[in-house]
Amino acid sequence: MKTIIEPFRIRSVEPIRMSTREEREKALAEAHYNLFSLAARDVMIDLLTDSGTGAMSTKQWAALMQGDESYAGSESYFDLRDTVQDLMGYKHVIPVHQGRAAERIIFQIMAADDMCIPNNTHFDTTRANIEFRGTQAVDLPVPEGLDPSAAGDFKGNMDIGRLRVFLEENQGRIPVGLLTITNNGNGGQPVSMQNIRETSELYKQHGIPFLLDAARFAENAYMIKLREGGYADTDLKDIVREMFGYADGCMVSAKKDGMVNIGGLLCLNDDGLASDARNLLILTEGFPTYGGLAGRDMAALAQGLREVLDWDYLQYRHASASYLADGLERLGVPCVRPTGLHAVYVDARALLPHIPALELPGQTLCCELYKVGGIRPVEIGTLMFGTTDAQTGKPQPATLDLVRLTLPRRVYTQSHVDWILEAIEDVVSRKDGLKGYRILEEAPFLRAFTAKLAPIS
Ligand code: F0G
Repeated sequence: MKTIIEPFRIRSVEPIRMSTREEREKALAEAHYNLFSLAARDVMIDLLTDSGTGAMSTKQWAALMQGDESYAGSESYFDLRDTVQDLMGYKHVIPVHQGRAAERIIFQIMAADDMCIPNNTHFDTTRANIEFRGTQAVDLPVPEGLDPSAAGDFKGNMDIGRLRVFLEENQGRIPVGLLTITNNGNGGQPVSMQNIRETSELYKQHGIPFLLDAARFAENAYMIKLREGGYADTDLKDIVREMFGYADGCMVSAKKDGMVNIGGLLCLNDDGLASDARNLLILTEGFPTYGGLAGRDMAALAQGLREVLDWDYLQYRHASASYLADGLERLGVPCVRPTGLHAVYVDARALLPHIPALELPGQTLCCELYKVGGIRPVEIGTLMFGTTDAQTGKPQPATLDLVRLTLPRRVYTQSHVDWILEAIEDVVSRKDGLKGYRILEEAPFLRAFTAKLAPIS
């Protein structure tokens, strides 16, 4: 059989409230053309994020019922610890409520003024938590990673040459080195095993501790098995063990490949660092055997981690993203290629070249998709990352204007993807007549979440 079917049956359903175009136009105007301000009940297909939006399995729901809610020494903690140690191999497993809690703790301990922290590409919360400490967050992606149309199997890689120079030039200023697998900041692109190994060797040569940002570790391992020479016959679990084995620890947002709606992990080998982290954890998150999670959350996460490396599941996930990307390509819609697993990124600036970047072509596409199909994508472009020139006070566009169609795990089926494609076809047929948006009100930072916009008439 060529068709890759959803490898699950649906036993519990959540109705989608069907809306009319008029209702959606009204809701969008009331949200000031900012999709973050929409009520979820007014959205039919929510592609804002794959974070915490997935569906749990029957075994996860069953595990939830068995959660041990003891304040200290919960059975659910020990199950989670053993599962994580089996998968990732680290000595200390510290639960946290989500990824950014691990980031906050690590950078509070390790980062300080006049220091810098390299990564292939820092995710926004990682960057923000580093900069909050007065530390510089430096991105060193390979050049092809910045070009949406460039070919490449591992466009998420760290630029090893630039990292080598960076480490030499900043000796004594780097408290920790990072690598994000997969690289969410540049289109969900995977990082090769060779790149993880070489990054690790460089950090080691300089005596710098190495942590992975491993939110989508299973999707990265799947891509290594599929694309990297020598791994086709390696068990996924062995690939995962090898990836984590090169690092001294990791920060994990479990809301992605942990297959849960809330949760995170901070894993470390170093006893002293783990002890400092646990002390900070007690201060703001909770006792070290729950770290801000309920016992049932940890039970569901342990089960999610036992499920995520299922080959049929990962293959289906890859097939969904590829089906969407191939459909877009047939419609002539430029996308970041090759497609990763968690999202398809449309190059809105290339699709709508008549709309200047400062008139937000990405936001135009997002609003059109919502009006036509009740679809909520997320703009990752000038609305999110545009800046103001300090000298002239003039607004500056972002490097790219992308629209992320993010796929929650195990939530939507192929007919939902067909619906998305039909909506996009409608938008493409009218694209030359579309107009941009202007910003009426914005916050001093992270403006995309709360900005109020108006269509340019
Ligand atoms: N690291 C990466 C690579 C991420 O993608 C995210 C979250 C985080 C860290 C932070 O984790 O949300 O659990 O605190 N990414 C989400 C997204 C929000 O939509 O891509 P968190």
